[in-house]
Amino acid sequence: MKIFIINGPNMQLLGKREPDIYGSETLADLESRIGAIAEKRGFDVEFFQSNHEGDIVDKLGAADQNADAVIINPAAYTHTSVAIRDAIKAIAVPVVEVHLSNITEREEFRHTSLTAPVCMGQICGFGLMGYEMAFNALDKFLKK
Ligand code: DQA
Repeated sequence: MKIFIINGPNMQLLGKREPDIYGSETLADLESRIGAIAEKRGFDVEFFQSNHEGDIVDKLGAADQNADAVIINPAAYTHTSVAIRDAIKAIAVPVVEVHLSNITEREEFRHTSLTAPVCMGQICGFGLMGYEMAFNALDKFLKK
């Protein structure tokens, strides 16, 4: 099973960026930890990070032909991007939204996700473990 793991803007700054909220692990740490878990579970993962909305839209479009599922942390675009929402809606593969932080307990503007309603579901507030939880959801969902 091939899974695209897409991380949005500023996720390349993990480890340095607001560590009290996002933790001290870097994006490379995230990718190696999640990569190892995926391998154990027999998932073939491809990581993609971009600060550019259109590139994320293109990657979601590519997922339709080249992946069985997507795990996405759209980061700040969660709260603003109709284009990413439409791209998720346009593809047939299941998409799980993940956030490291609990966006519902933060500033008001983070309470709205434009993307979650078109995803299979949203996981937030569990740090890196959220990506592993998304694997569990996809495993169950895709094996149905
Ligand atoms: C985030 C939450 C977003 O509100 C924020 O803009 C991010 C990271 C998270 O993983 O908690 O960049 O998606």
